[in-house]
Amino acid sequence: MAKIVVVYHSGYGHTAAQAKAVFTGVESVEGVSVNLLKVEEVEANWESLDQADAIIFGSPTYMGSVSGQFKTFMDSTGGRWLEQKWKDKIAAGFTNSGSLSGDKLNTLIQLTVFAAQHSMVWVGSSVLPNGRTDENINRIGSFLGAAAQSDHGSLEPSSGDLQTAQLFGERVAQAALRWVRGK
Ligand SMILES: Cc1cc2nc3c(=O)[nH]c(=O)nc-3n(C[C@H](O)[C@H](O)[C@H](O)COP(=O)(O)O)c2cc1C
Repeated sequence: MAKIVVVYHSGYGHTAAQAKAVFTGVESVEGVSVNLLKVEEVEANWESLDQADAIIFGSPTYMGSVSGQFKTFMDSTGGRWLEQKWKDKIAAGFTNSGSLSGDKLNTLIQLTVFAAQHSMVWVGSSVLPNGRTDENINRIGSFLGAAAQSDHGSLEPSSGDLQTAQLFGERVAQAALRWVRGK
């Protein structure tokens, strides 16, 4: 059994929809348990994060980087970093923004560096783009993590981006299972 936590921030619900799709993908893999956590709920759920085999980080892209709320969560892990409590857990990340690019890559790089500081093992996306319309998977062409774009006025990312997030969740869950079995 691999324990997975998806921890995310969402100001207006778009990244929350992406997080739910990642959660659905993780949940679809046999032999994993998964907890979907908002950063606002972390304080009461540190144990779940500490005991996880894999943590998937998700943040909207605000001003070309993670949101302030997600950065506050990152900074609150300083004590755990000092103890290297999350060393050798699997890590992965996703982000959503208003523009197609929107400088989302910088957010994913931030999440990767954050995971590296915790000595975690990063898993990227493996979803090959099959076109560039809203229905296509990985239309944005992101491989460091899952990327999504939400139009202003919409409630969630495109259907293809949600499917991309789901496939990404599946991949991370499978990687976590292999990681746990190989221990
Ligand atoms: C403060 C702020 C900064 C933003 N900066 C960016 C940005 O750098 N690039 C971009 O494409 N969209 C940007 N956006 C748009 C959001 O990424 C977009 O609305 C996203 O869907 C919000 O996700 P959420 O509902 O999960 O908060 C910004 C929005 C806000 C509120």
